[in-house]
Amino acid sequence: MTADGGDDPQAPVRVGVLGCGTVGGALISILDEGADEVAARTGIRLEVTRVAVRNVARYRLPTLGSDRLTHDAHSVVCDPDVDVVVELIGGIEPARTLLVEAMRAGKPVVSANKELLANVGNELLAEAERAGVDLLYEAAVAGAIPLVRPLTESLAGERILRVMGIVNGTTNFVLTRMSEDGIGYGEALAEAQRLGYAERDPSADVEGYDAAAKAAIIAGIAFNADVVAGDVYREGITGIDPSDIEFAHRLGYEVKLLAVAERAGGSAARPVVAVRVHPAMVPRDHPLAGVRGSYNAVFIEGEASGELMLYGRGAGGRPTASAVLGDLVDAAHNLRAGGRGRAAPRARSEIRPIDELETQYYLTIDVEDRPGVLAAVATVFGGHRVSIRSMEQVGLGGEARLVFITHTALEADIQATISELALLESVERVGKLIRVIGPDPDAASGRAT
Ligand code: HSE
Repeated sequence: MTADGGDDPQAPVRVGVLGCGTVGGALISILDEGADEVAARTGIRLEVTRVAVRNVARYRLPTLGSDRLTHDAHSVVCDPDVDVVVELIGGIEPARTLLVEAMRAGKPVVSANKELLANVGNELLAEAERAGVDLLYEAAVAGAIPLVRPLTESLAGERILRVMGIVNGTTNFVLTRMSEDGIGYGEALAEAQRLGYAERDPSADVEGYDAAAKAAIIAGIAFNADVVAGDVYREGITGIDPSDIEFAHRLGYEVKLLAVAERAGGSAARPVVAVRVHPAMVPRDHPLAGVRGSYNAVFIEGEASGELMLYGRGAGGRPTASAVLGDLVDAAHNLRAGGRGRAAPRARSEIRPIDELETQYYLTIDVEDRPGVLAAVATVFGGHRVSIRSMEQVGLGGEARLVFITHTALEADIQATISELALLESVERVGKLIRVIGPDPDAASGRAT
């Protein structure tokens, strides 16, 4: 029996798995424990028939004979006993070639590979359409949190305005520890490394690359546009100082690393998309401000739906395997029915440059504490059309730290302000610029938005 034969609805759909790390191992163990229950609930019996691993000698999978293991991923894709291919290798090659090969052989594919989807997702969607099979990737963004299906199915008729997410658990853990326990960035990161959240080289997480790949995928789904990781403006959390967090608290905010994708003009069919990852001041009463530790959450604003938030585990073996399993059931259903879902390749989107962002900003400046300095600093803000909403001065011995929140201003203008401030003799240091989320309480004093 093959999955599309239809002669025996009880016959298993045979799954080939490429890569058996944390997620692959979890998928196999979930199916070992619960294939009967999945079958009872969904009418689909899934059976893992072949697994490609890097080193066959290292693996002991209790329910899978060693003849099912191979180091040759290509042989899994081509195996006539494999109906659906799950790709958990990561990276672009050989994952891309293997998935194309599987689809050309008429096999639906499921991938948890954010790098792949964020860089060549559109090419793969085109290949899936040509081959008449599914390419499903719920697990590629925000782990267990259902996001692809809610955005493309439940909200298919919705005009999405903006999606903001905490999509990197490592940085959210670090920022939560800094916020709740007052510890420094280095100490919080070391703890994240000890607990296994952060890699020994943490740059993919702390510099925002991981979140940027996810932001590209989210923007693509939300706006039905071809958006790639290189389109995403990106800043990480490395410049965040405990004093920034202290000020954030005083001003009523939490600092979070946000992935933001928003509609920034264009037409209904071809929206201009703005997509960025950076630390942000999130008002304490915003649902994203309460997302703690390594949890992820995605906040969606739709024109008719209003605000929605999806919350959960964004990483980890079993949570990610749960999303893979959902895709597998879907792919198997479609295969049985002789069809596929409606994902199609997307038109290339126009991306709004970060310079055109309009928002409020938090900025600290360390200056000499003497007459005339504040006036000189304020003149620079004014000269670039940046209106100050609030300012606080804190003494630092012979120096002072000036803490500004601006009214809504143009990114190009605040950047020009920073460049000019850095040239003032009285300015010792310009601190981290943090964008502020939420309505400007006195928009009339700033730019019209
Ligand atoms: N390193 C990521 C995180 C998980 O911390 O959320 C994988 O994308």
